[in-house]
Amino acid sequence: DENGYVDIDWDTLGFGLTSTDYMYKMKCFKDEEFTEGKLIPYGNIELSPAACVLNYGQGLFEGMKAIRREDGKVVLFRPDENALRMRIGAERMCMPSPSVDPFIDAVKQTALANKRWIPPPGKGSLYIRPLLLGTGAILGVAPAPEYTFLIYASPVRNYFKEESAALNLYVEDQFDRASRGGAGGVKSITNYAPAMKPLAKAKNNGYSDVLYLDSATGKYIEEVSACNIFMVKDKIISTPPTKGTILPGVTRKSMIEIAREQGFKVEERQIAVEELLEADEAFCTGTAVVVVPVGSITYQAKRPESPLGYAELIGYSSSEGSDTNYEPDLEENEGGTREVN
Ligand code: COI
Repeated sequence: DENGYVDIDWDTLGFGLTSTDYMYKMKCFKDEEFTEGKLIPYGNIELSPAACVLNYGQGLFEGMKAIRREDGKVVLFRPDENALRMRIGAERMCMPSPSVDPFIDAVKQTALANKRWIPPPGKGSLYIRPLLLGTGAILGVAPAPEYTFLIYASPVRNYFKEESAALNLYVEDQFDRASRGGAGGVKSITNYAPAMKPLAKAKNNGYSDVLYLDSATGKYIEEVSACNIFMVKDKIISTPPTKGTILPGVTRKSMIEIAREQGFKVEERQIAVEELLEADEAFCTGTAVVVVPVGSITYQAKRPESPLGYAELIGYSSSEGSDTNYEPDLEENEGGTREVN
């Protein structure tokens, strides 16, 4: 339109994909550097059936947002953090990766090329999704001979249908997300498909999302499907230490830094589920999720009468603007008491 926006209804945006005009693409061979990336029209890509990413999951993604401020300026939130995290992940997955400056430059180009899709101030953001993929063909289990760095973008608003209402989390005690020495601490594409089954189960039972426990003991909380978790007890803010099995979120890091700057005590330490159930407050952080309050935690199919049991106690109503205010179907729930040492 005359203000430079595409003609879409900004008020009904959720976290669905809205395809935009351009994507960024850069390729390189194994043991070489990424150079000469460029913007191309958004669209499908062609891959060999033997592409390493399709067969063996050699791939990483990132997530970041471009926001249009009231004064019209477009800003990116800490893109250097995403660039560095992709480099760390690439090392774990045996992939070459773009250096920080070319990464940020590519993200900027993608955001600006799709500027008319960046929502008006206060109506959401442009979610930018960098991908690093082993696209070369290979049959044996080994790193791909060729790599593709791609960035696409989509305007988004709220990740959860609960919008600003509190989340009802289900503590998953059958399925684990990550284990010691695995890839849980990097943004490997392989971390996400195995989380779909427990997430679907939790959603079918009326929960908003799943909270995973550490795979070694099943005692300590780790993270939610697409976000990190924090708790507050007696004004002290705590969150589990990332230590290889938890994704080091950029919003998590920012939350810790801002809370400390504001004078809060913030601890990164192991948190037993029981301790979370006794918390005064809990909340989740993530790029897609931003910051959302937790209204209830259900552990071993029991929604405890703990201070966190219902959202009213932290000033939110779990039924506000959402349909999450109903009792989960416990019969469907296969959970039980987990034996721990
Ligand atoms: C993000 O917050 O950017 C994420 O990567 C979460 C994603 C799985 C939606």
